[in-house]
Amino acid sequence: MDKIVVRGGKRLKGKIKIGGAKNAVLPMMAACLLAEGESVIRNVPLLADVITMKKVLEQLGAKVTLRGHTLHVDTSNVSRFEAPYELVRTMRASIYVLGPLLGSFGKARVSLPGGCAWGPRPVDLHIRAMQELGARIRIDHGYIVARATNLRGETIVFSLPSVGATANTMMAAARAKGKTVIVNAAREPEIVALADFINRMGGRIRGAGTETIEIEGTSRLDPAQVRVIPDRIETGTFMIAGAITAGEITLESCMPEHVEAISQKLRQGGVIVEKSRNSIYIKGKRRINSVDAVTAPYPGFPTDMQAQYMALMTIARGTCVISETVFPDRFTHVPELRRLGANIKIEGNTAHVGYVRHLSGAPVMATDLRASAALVLAGLVADGETHISRVYHIDRGYEAIEEKLSKLGADIKRMPE
Ligand code: UD1
Repeated sequence: MDKIVVRGGKRLKGKIKIGGAKNAVLPMMAACLLAEGESVIRNVPLLADVITMKKVLEQLGAKVTLRGHTLHVDTSNVSRFEAPYELVRTMRASIYVLGPLLGSFGKARVSLPGGCAWGPRPVDLHIRAMQELGARIRIDHGYIVARATNLRGETIVFSLPSVGATANTMMAAARAKGKTVIVNAAREPEIVALADFINRMGGRIRGAGTETIEIEGTSRLDPAQVRVIPDRIETGTFMIAGAITAGEITLESCMPEHVEAISQKLRQGGVIVEKSRNSIYIKGKRRINSVDAVTAPYPGFPTDMQAQYMALMTIARGTCVISETVFPDRFTHVPELRRLGANIKIEGNTAHVGYVRHLSGAPVMATDLRASAALVLAGLVADGETHISRVYHIDRGYEAIEEKLSKLGADIKRMPE
């Protein structure tokens, strides 16, 4: 196992390129199952989660080749319909094969993901939506076993706008008979990207990016080519890296309109954020001000940025309140940030973050993907060395984070534990 060692105190300076979005490429890879033949996905980020999804597809019989940042997925020989526990437990997004397998082959056996580091994370909405489209589902030895002779379009009303359930439903409904309407759909850019990909395959999806998505099912879809949108969470993480080090950096190949909620918070705190069509310039200052935040589904402040934002707020002047409404227990980074000297109190789903003049480096442990990123960010500004162990979490969602930060002048290296 590797660890990351950061020596804090460097002001970041320079330019880096943002990679393709993890949360867009994973459902796109699953969506390749909707068409027989070879689809091509470009701008693929090289992440552990992409390799896990590759294994999930290979397990089904697909041929998946990764050349540089381009992925070829050939589904001609798919003949098995199971996503096993060993893969699903390492990556919940494996459940994305449920919808397309049902839509294309009428059967799927997908392990239930179980809980995650910060809470129960149910998949009831995915299951109910498949049932409403006509699938018969039972839970057998920890697996979702689903069958459908004919999926039929239906109006599906979600009690909350789940990203995963919206994506799975769109994929199944794209191959159902008739029209499906998803009410209270997730509006994340990754949903829009998935709908675009399915439409390139010949699908007929309208309204992605709004609360109501209409899917006209079709009996056949054809393989297609697509480019993955830039990762808004990687973008946001580097924006905070610039801000927390009082640096001056430019992020290229990103989509500024996807990080509006983060930009607003940083500006309110006193950071200069300038946007052009596909780049963002950040200029931090020595002391920024505390600004409250409440996580919410897109276009609200992303839960996937809560930990990193909290790292920044620990050294911001004043006190602030950060509320987590999407995953109310998502605070595993808090005890680790406290080890670096942060002043944070948790009450229910709310963190009260007080100002400290300095963070001080210490050994800490990464507990999940975004928590690890928060610890790296805190390490960039802490006195002395911060050793972050279990960095395999960070490799799930950031391609070469230490190389990109080094390029910006950070003193950071990866080494064996
Ligand atoms: C996706 C993202 C994840 C992000 C999250 C919220 C991927 C691969 N992952 O996760 O990075 O943090 O969106 O932006 O894209 N819920 C249910 N029942 C369900 C499904 C969800 O109650 O069947 C609840 C969840 O517990 C949570 C809320 O809905 O409270 C939102 O979760 P959801 O949008 O489904 O998150 P994921 O798709 O798992």
